[in-house]
Amino acid sequence: MEQILKNFFLFMGKNKVATKMAKKYGLRFGAGRFVAGASLESTLETIRKLNEEGLEVTIDHLGEFVDNEEETNEMTNHCIEAIKSIANQGLNSQLSLKLTSMGLDISRELVIRNMKRIMEVADSYDVFVTIDMEDEARCQATIDIFKELKSQYDNIGTVLQSYLYRTVEDIQDLDSLNPNLRLVKGAYKESPSVAFPQKKDVDENFKKIIKMHLLNGNYTAIATHDDAMIAYTKELVKEHNIPLDQFEFQMLYGIRIDAQRKLRDEGYTMRVYVPYGKDWYGYFMRRLAERPANVAFVLKGIFGK
Ligand code: FDA
Repeated sequence: MEQILKNFFLFMGKNKVATKMAKKYGLRFGAGRFVAGASLESTLETIRKLNEEGLEVTIDHLGEFVDNEEETNEMTNHCIEAIKSIANQGLNSQLSLKLTSMGLDISRELVIRNMKRIMEVADSYDVFVTIDMEDEARCQATIDIFKELKSQYDNIGTVLQSYLYRTVEDIQDLDSLNPNLRLVKGAYKESPSVAFPQKKDVDENFKKIIKMHLLNGNYTAIATHDDAMIAYTKELVKEHNIPLDQFEFQMLYGIRIDAQRKLRDEGYTMRVYVPYGKDWYGYFMRRLAERPANVAFVLKGIFGK
């Protein structure tokens, strides 16, 4: 049953009609539990509160699979405005973005042009940018673009997913760039021809890539809500004397808030990924797919308790 629900939400997350409707009608169905707000202004307030609690942030202006140039320009302008606001208000936040919202599905030239506009501003305001990883079909293009940008800008990182067979090789391949990588299990529906179908294999591979990247001496963000992966990392860094400033934990806004605070209290850097904006639907569906128990929150959102 859980697998059926998971597939249902992942399928619904790609529904274009539902995406358009969701944009039009604003945050609904309990999405506010996972999405900070529709506007940048209200999100800056959320960042401030998290910072005051000792939590670091990366914000993500929601939007993906954009298929026209004008919209990619708007998304780019929005990222630039967000970077300037973060810096001008002295907030402790990075920026995360998806290349499909910058034109990855339209042309390489467009996505590079948009990304360079963002990186020029990020560089001058000293704000770190992470390129989220999307589905496997776009993984190689994302890595190629990351490499090109990394050769020109230092304050850029990307994400690798432990459910993909290719990831161990990607960690090796990227090592020469000393990249700052966020490591995750992976959130998209993938074929067994490219991704481990069994959770236990995804978890084993997650441990493997955490170990490889940390022992290679690279900065590593371990982005997970899984206690077993967190415990594994703590043991590993202790065993190998890896300094606290070489890694951080990351979790999503609204998920396992107590665990976030506990890691902060233990002295680890804890970064919260804060999504916001009108295009919340695909993100929300992926969160429901991860944990169908969250459907209870959706039902409360629809039926009002
Ligand atoms: P897993 O799904 O195995 O869950 C372990 C435990 O965590 C569960 O048993 C439950 O207790 C808790 N938990 C997990 N999800 C929960 C939820 N939604 N609600 C409540 N509890 C929950 N993916 C991707 O493909 N590309 C990307 O760029 C990113 N970026 C990213 C950034 C950050 C900061 C995070 C934390 C995650 C991502 N992800 C991502 C998503 C990631 O790939 C993965 O889908 C989720 O983190 C869920 O996997 P876990 O590692 O948490 O473990």
